[in-house]
Amino acid sequence: MKCRCKSRFNAVFMKNLEWYLHNIYGNYKKSLFSKLGKKVLEIGAGTGTNLPYYRPDTDLTVIEPSKDMLEFFLKKTERYPLNIRVIEGFAEELPFEDNSFDSVVSTLVLCSVKSPYRALKEIRRVLKPDGVFVFIEHVKAPENTLTAKVQNALHKGWKWLFEGCDITRDTGKMIQSFFSDVHYKTVRFNSPFIPVNYHIIGYGIKKSC
Ligand SMILES: C[S@@+](CC[C@H](N)C(=O)[O-])C[C@H]1O[C@@H](n2cnc3c(N)ncnc32)[C@H](O)[C@@H]1O
Repeated sequence: MKCRCKSRFNAVFMKNLEWYLHNIYGNYKKSLFSKLGKKVLEIGAGTGTNLPYYRPDTDLTVIEPSKDMLEFFLKKTERYPLNIRVIEGFAEELPFEDNSFDSVVSTLVLCSVKSPYRALKEIRRVLKPDGVFVFIEHVKAPENTLTAKVQNALHKGWKWLFEGCDITRDTGKMIQSFFSDVHYKTVRFNSPFIPVNYHIIGYGIKKSC
């Protein structure tokens, strides 16, 4: 039987980090989530850190592969008056029809999916034309910065400990290759988590053909 120790560790770690995530991303999320439509898909919803930011009339579907994350997520849902559907699965293989959602949300997930290209292709597929993809992702630091050196030195161990989390991904570039109307800013947080200090925060629109 496969040991779930690392999965459990990551779920407990994210749960205990929630206060910090609200602190650093809270205002960005308030502004970004105001762009969401009624029918929303959140990929990699984790322990449910984003639940407080959805409008009460949101029709929310979440897809998340980790049973341990979902355990925390499900405990929290009662507190929020949203219509929530929870599915265990992967962003690279979304079990939904084309053009199903007004909006898709991803926060700190595209670093961890096995194939960000497949995940982005799927996100684009399930979004309705003119639908909005909202994201906050930590990214590869600019070349030759101290952070980039730290990322290069730590990336293998980090990936192992945090279940596939790749701190050297140029996620902004990838998003731009799937959405024609992408707006984001790069923000460097002064946090003790040096390898994940650089973030992209923004949204992309799926253009109608
Ligand atoms: C760092 S946590 C972020 C959780 C949450 N989005 C947040 O902002 O607090 C990364 C999440 O992505 C999930 N994840 C990993 N691989 C995934 C995949 N292929 N598809 C969807 N979610 C995935 C993990 O299980 C975990 O819940």
